[in-house]
Formats: sequence, C-alpha cells, structure tokens
Amino acid sequence: MAASAKVLTIDNLTQNGEWTIVLPRRQKQRRTNSIKTRTEEGQPWIPTDLETDPRKQSKLMQKMETSMRRIENSQFYASFLEQIQSSDMLDRFHKVLGSDLKMQMVIYGIGSIESYEPPRFQLSLAILMKRKFSWIGDIEVFDPVLSATESWVLEALGCTVLSVNEEGRRQALKPTLFFMPHCEAELYNNLLQANWRVDLLNRIVLFGNSFETYEQNIVYYRNSSIINSARHVIAVRKFSDEFRIKTISDDYFAAFLDSSWHFFGPDLESELPSINYDGDYLLDG
Ligand SMILES: C[S@@+](CC[C@H](N)C(=O)[O-])C[C@H]1O[C@@H](n2cnc3c(N)ncnc32)[C@H](O)[C@@H]1O
Repeated sequence: MAASAKVLTIDNLTQNGEWTIVLPRRQKQRRTNSIKTRTEEGQPWIPTDLETDPRKQSKLMQKMETSMRRIENSQFYASFLEQIQSSDMLDRFHKVLGSDLKMQMVIYGIGSIESYEPPRFQLSLAILMKRKFSWIGDIEVFDPVLSATESWVLEALGCTVLSVNEEGRRQALKPTLFFMPHCEAELYNNLLQANWRVDLLNRIVLFGNSFETYEQNIVYYRNSSIINSARHVIAVRKFSDEFRIKTISDDYFAAFLDSSWHFFGPDLESELPSINYDGDYLLDG
C-alpha cells in the first residue's frame, strides 16, 4: 500500500507552502493498517513507546517543516541539486533506472528526528528530493530507534515505516536509492553482501558515508572489528563511482560530513570476488 494514502488525514502542502495538519482520530488503527509487514524478511519491530501524544506529533511536524524550509533555501541544497543534475550523475541515475520510471527510496539509519537536528536535515533532504524529482518513487524508512511519534510524523510526510528490521539486507529487485546517512559500516556491508550480484548491484544508488574514506583509513582499522564488518565495502570500491557532496556551510557539517553518492558497475559475475568472513583480512583482498 502506498504510504498512508488511505488513512492519513493530512492535507498536502497548501498554496503558501505550509502544512495543514488534521490529527487522526484513531492512530493505533492507522499504524497497524499502514505499516508494511515483511515478517519473512527480518525481525518484526514496533516502537517501544506505543502511545503517542498529538501535541508531540504536532511539535515534531513543525520542527520538520522548519528544517525542510531551511534546507530548501540553503546554498547547500542549491549545490546538492546542481551536482545531481550534472550530466555525469544524471547518466548514472538513468543507468540504474533502466526501463523503470521510478526508483524507490529506502532510508536506513536516519536516527532520532525528534532529538537531533542532523537527522531532521537528512530526512528533509530525502523528502525534498522526492518532491523535486518525479523519478523518485515511494519512500520506506527504518531505524530501530524510531519512536511512535517519529513514526507518525514520517508517515504524515508520506513515508512508510517498515515494521521489520531488515538489518540493511534489502535486495534491489528493482531500482532502489538507499539513503543511509552516517550509518555504521556494518549496515552498508550487509546491504552489499545481500546484493553481491551484477544485476543487483547495478540497480543500487547509495547515499552514505564515503567508501573512499573507509578504504583510505583501512590501515587504522587493522586491529578493529570494523575491518571485518567492512569487507564488501572495501571490495566494491573497484566497481564504484563515488561523488562526494559539499557541505558548503558549517550548518550542514554534522548532517552531511563525508557523505557521498555511490554507483556500482561490475560487468561480469566473475569480477566479483567471493568474500570470506573467516580468518584474517588481507589488505589487498
Ligand atoms: C551513527 S547513527 C546515524 C544517525 C543519523 N543518521 C545521524 O547522522 O545522526 C546510525 C543509525 O543507524 C541505526 N541503525 C542501527 N541498526 C539499524 C538497522 N538494522 N536498520 C536501520 N538502521 C539501523 C541506529 O539506530 C542509528 O540511528
């Protein structure tokens, strides 16, 4: 079901750009109906705090509106859009789309949008992108820290909150933009491991921490568990095109530092190394 389409009693943006919010009368019913269930693909999940408070929801929605307005009017956003619309990047987005018209977006690891500004900026960017580009399809979101209030606001903004923890292992059976700002290396690694096939990797666009930086810092990780949980991240570098984004101002440093777009283009299955998680990690393999 499209995120919340049937159940939300929230009008879209009004003509002057403000949100009109009518709080739903029966939230519990709305949540159970609208949250997507994929129990066969991961651990079932529900927010720990099931009770929501309309005042908290409204306050958080206002914070999100403020955050979206700030991003939309920023030099940072102008530069971000300019980069996406460069021919270099547009070609790659089109390649991932293939004959499909839409690329779904999956957001993992957004963090607490109620508690922190960087997650609000990150979510704002994802939502503004969807509004701007017709080729971006539905948005699904998961982070185990999401509260019931945050889930409500996410759905009010048109996203679907997943009810299972996929551990980042979603297979890209159709073109998918994985929006994973500042996630742990292990989550990127899970995603790559689950998609370690030419056809699947070619259907992924990934926004997240720079893989180039992981590779550059590999010597510092030698004795750390990161190295074991980033083997696919390092191995995919050979088939990656990475485009770093510019944070432009200090305001967006915390939210977007060291963030990049990644596109993967192995041509042959035989090019993909099989990756062994037992034994020592070799720097060259
Ligand atoms: C380093 S924090 C980044 C939070 C936020 N994006 C930021 O930049 O402040 C990593 C986030 O990944 C989330 N996370 C951990 N396991 C996850 C999973 N299996 N699926 C989705 N998100 C997960 C954590 O709860 C946490 O919010």
